[in-house]
Amino acid sequence: MKTWLLLGLGVLVRLAIGFHPYSGAGKPPMYGDYEAQRHWMEITTKLPAREWYTETKSNNLSYWGLDYPPLSAYQSWLYGKAIERCEPAALALSDSHGYETSSSKHLMRLSVLASDIIVLFPALLACRSAFYGKAPMAHRDWVLVGSLFQPAILLIDHGHFQYNSISLGLAAGAAAAIAGGRDILGSVLFCLAMNHKQMAVYYAPAFFAHLLGKCLARPTSKSVVADIAKLGLAVTATFAIMWAPFLGRTSDFLQVLHRIVPVRRGLYEDYVANFWCTTSLAIKWRSLFSQQALIRLCTVSTVLFAAPVLVKEVLRPTPRGLLVCMASSAFAFYLFSYQVHEKSILLPLMPVMLLGPDLPVTSRWLPAVAAFSMYPLLKKDGLALAYAALLMLWVALAWPGERMAGAQVLEAEKKKIPVGVHLAWDGLLGLLLKASGGLAAGMHAASCLMQAPEQYPYLFDAMMTSLSFLHFLAVAVHLQWEHLRHKWPTVH
Ligand SMILES: *[C@@H]1O[C@H](CO)[C@@H](O)[C@H](O)[C@H]1NC(C)=O
Repeated sequence: MKTWLLLGLGVLVRLAIGFHPYSGAGKPPMYGDYEAQRHWMEITTKLPAREWYTETKSNNLSYWGLDYPPLSAYQSWLYGKAIERCEPAALALSDSHGYETSSSKHLMRLSVLASDIIVLFPALLACRSAFYGKAPMAHRDWVLVGSLFQPAILLIDHGHFQYNSISLGLAAGAAAAIAGGRDILGSVLFCLAMNHKQMAVYYAPAFFAHLLGKCLARPTSKSVVADIAKLGLAVTATFAIMWAPFLGRTSDFLQVLHRIVPVRRGLYEDYVANFWCTTSLAIKWRSLFSQQALIRLCTVSTVLFAAPVLVKEVLRPTPRGLLVCMASSAFAFYLFSYQVHEKSILLPLMPVMLLGPDLPVTSRWLPAVAAFSMYPLLKKDGLALAYAALLMLWVALAWPGERMAGAQVLEAEKKKIPVGVHLAWDGLLGLLLKASGGLAAGMHAASCLMQAPEQYPYLFDAMMTSLSFLHFLAVAVHLQWEHLRHKWPTVH
């Protein structure tokens, strides 16, 4: 009963955000992400699959050319077919660019809601029982409440307009399957996640390390080889099926690959709360290094940052360890890799929310900071009101729970640590949280009340992402520390 109530409330909140604007609303000639998704439905329903990723007379790739992997294209086709039945004009080839009626907006919004209900909700329920099946009720509830109502993904999927919950849901489902011992199903689901959005590759080192560790722990070398072969086969078969329409000719295959690998983009886009963008205020990376050297620098720092937790996971794979590794590896990519988008913070955030009962403070603070880090984007989309409302809802849902769900964890911690140290740490943490909230509120107030100085028009944006960066770095380091120090339970 309670679960249905929570899911129902989740649907209601999602519907309510849908009445707010989306990215690029009423902004010709290019509009925004909403138009990109609508255009992909137009292309996939009107042209044969071989032409989806190719420049042709009726497919102008300079106008929101498809740059997500095939499963995204199939999803566009499926939703496109449904929307076409209700409102054919919304997807007319070439004539529908910038088509924005209120009825078509509702249809598009409903397709995002449907994705949540079909993919994300079941995945969250599966994760709740796979990772915290025997945990106290308050902990089990927090997994669901935290993941359903964290403001960052709500604002991006249901406000800004994207379908992140499909690839994130598939990745969560994969983790749940693997935690439940169904490694092959998990590998297939994770491959589907990567085939929906290439960004899911942020999790790939975690899945690789966990599954490799599990295979290596088999008793005989024969069973080690057999298990690795089975997983390899599952991965290859999933990719082959997903890519089937583009495997007929080498040129088709290379064209799709070329479209989905962002080769010619820069170090970062707009304001991202990562290492490169934040430090670029002091160090001009882009004039110091060539693009090739920067790509190498990014790759090395990403690998080095993620390596310690991954090595531990290979040596001692555990279900919760997999989630920590997913978060750590996604943080490594977000903070240090090349070409990062502000929305990519959703990737480290998802596994942190699933680990909510083990991270009572982080799982309450991080979603708010993640939404805050995207504020410059959200403001541009006209989503400032939805942002404020969702943050208030988040505070209302998350804070009373802290006492209930956090109490047991704190108790357990108290037993291991001398009380004096514990109280000092608690006091320090409280102080830090107040400082963080105060600074964030101050920045919001300043950006509302004051004009940015003329020579630094993006001063407030840069301040907001820099503050967020400090939080993200602290959480990423904290996760690594927890993972290296903890012996997570081998079963849930
Ligand atoms: C393709 O789209 C771009 C961006 O909207 C536009 O500038 C260009 O003129 C278009 N090319 C053709 C051939 O229609």
